[in-house]
Amino acid sequence: AKITFITRDKQSITLEGNAGSAMALAVANGVTGIDGDCGGVCSCATCHVYLSPEGLERAGAASEIETDMLELDDNANEFSRLCCQIEISDAIDGLVLNVAR
Ligand code: FES
Repeated sequence: AKITFITRDKQSITLEGNAGSAMALAVANGVTGIDGDCGGVCSCATCHVYLSPEGLERAGAASEIETDMLELDDNANEFSRLCCQIEISDAIDGLVLNVAR
């Protein structure tokens, strides 16, 4: 699946992945602003991204543990996800993730 990351300085980076999390894909390719400090266990919020309403519908809503983590982040809103919790599959091909502030 192709996943596009839009960095804070509006750079668009499209990456191709088959499995694993969107965070791992971003970190492996050096996407600025996605740090993945906790290694993907939903406890750091350094993989915070915003989705479009359509994107959210496809990727699904945040889980309860993810929502709890997002509540600690002042920049979180209803379009927020932690992208270590977004599994790459064909179902989300073309997904666009905006790196959060
Ligand atoms: Fe830490 Fe996603 S990498 S919450």
